[in-house]
Amino acid sequence: MDSIIVTGGGPLSGTIPIAGAKNACLTLMPATLLSDEPLTLTNAPRLSDIRTMSQLLGSLGAEVSSLSDGLVLAMSSHDLNGERADYDIVRKMRASILVLGPLLARQGRAVVSLPGGCAIGARPVDLHLKALEAMGAELELRDGYVHAKAPSGGLHGGIVDFPFVSVGATENALMAATLARGTTVLKNAAQEPEIVDLVHCLQAMGAQISGEGTDTIEIQGVDRLHGATHRVVTDRIELGTYMLAPLVAGGEVTLGGGRRNLLDAFCTKIEEAGAEVTESDAGLTVKRANGPMQAVDVETQPFPGFPTDLQAQMMALLCTAQGTSVLEEKIFENRFMHAPELIRMGAEIDVHGGHATVTGVDKLKGAPVMATDLRASVSLILAGLAAQGETRVGRVYHLDRGYEHVVAKLRGVGANIERVKEDG
Ligand code: EPZ
Repeated sequence: MDSIIVTGGGPLSGTIPIAGAKNACLTLMPATLLSDEPLTLTNAPRLSDIRTMSQLLGSLGAEVSSLSDGLVLAMSSHDLNGERADYDIVRKMRASILVLGPLLARQGRAVVSLPGGCAIGARPVDLHLKALEAMGAELELRDGYVHAKAPSGGLHGGIVDFPFVSVGATENALMAATLARGTTVLKNAAQEPEIVDLVHCLQAMGAQISGEGTDTIEIQGVDRLHGATHRVVTDRIELGTYMLAPLVAGGEVTLGGGRRNLLDAFCTKIEEAGAEVTESDAGLTVKRANGPMQAVDVETQPFPGFPTDLQAQMMALLCTAQGTSVLEEKIFENRFMHAPELIRMGAEIDVHGGHATVTGVDKLKGAPVMATDLRASVSLILAGLAAQGETRVGRVYHLDRGYEHVVAKLRGVGANIERVKEDG
């Protein structure tokens, strides 16, 4: 098992290239199940979750070839021969549930393991199932699996009115509706850039979709989809994570390929806290506007609100900002697991229910800490950049799920960071 050692220190400077989005790629890959023609993704991120999704698609009979050092994924579901997504793969990655809609739409049948619980919350999939039932699917939960059957003649269009916003349920319903007979309307749909990217890919495959990026998406089903090549959108969560690096450690960093419209609410919030964000052809450049960062209150919301996937990283920043901040986590019920680890580094944080009150301290102190989930792990690395001495972050396998080349990227802008093998 590896750890990452960060020694806090001086200002950062230079450019960090931002990869393609994990959360876009994980929904774009199952789209290959919708057609018997090849789908090629470029600008793909090189992450363990992407390899898990490749394994899952392979177990269903799809071919997934990783080319150009992993930046290109050439996929084909011409000889699909499976309908079962096994627990052994699904338990590693919840996004596996995103094969349910495409499989059902293409083959009329699917048996998909329920994902089970997660460190950050219960995360049920009831909205995914309700959406597919609105398209005529017959669903039975048995032995930890969803057994799904489409009516003869295939899924039909329907009205899906989500009681609250779900990214995954919107994606599953969207993909299923592309091959359903008639019109499907998704109300209170998610508006994330990853949803828009999925729609653009499906449109390139011949799908009839409108309203992406709004809360109402309309899909006219078609008989079949054809092949396409699609470039994965930039990873706005990786982008936001590294935008915080020069704010915690000082200096000025450019994020290659960054675009403000992917993260406007986040940019506005860090500007409120004292950041200067400049957009150019090179990307986004970030530094402290003048002097130390200031406390701000944050509330996570679905897009275009402040992303929950940047809450932990923002908490790391606020640990050394001047004043008291309140963070409210509105999306997941258990997403403050990083707080006790930051407290081990000398932070002053009080968690009560869905709120965390952070009182800024002058300096954090390096310590051995433990990653508990993907975003918590990188928040500890950010805190380490601001801390005195050495921070040792354990269980970094969490990090590998969503961040490629962290050590090389941060070292490239002057951070003192290394990855080490731990015994046992
Ligand atoms: C996606 O998860 C992302 N994952 C998450 O990123 C992200 O935090 C989340 O959207 C919110 O932005 C991927 O795209 C692979 P939801 P998803 O359905 O689709 C509840 C990361 O760090 N809910 O929008 O699972 C759910 O429990 C990950 O990269 C139901 O109750 O999120 C949560 O409280 C973590 N029933 C809320 O809705 C359902 O059927 C939002 O979940 C579905 C969701």
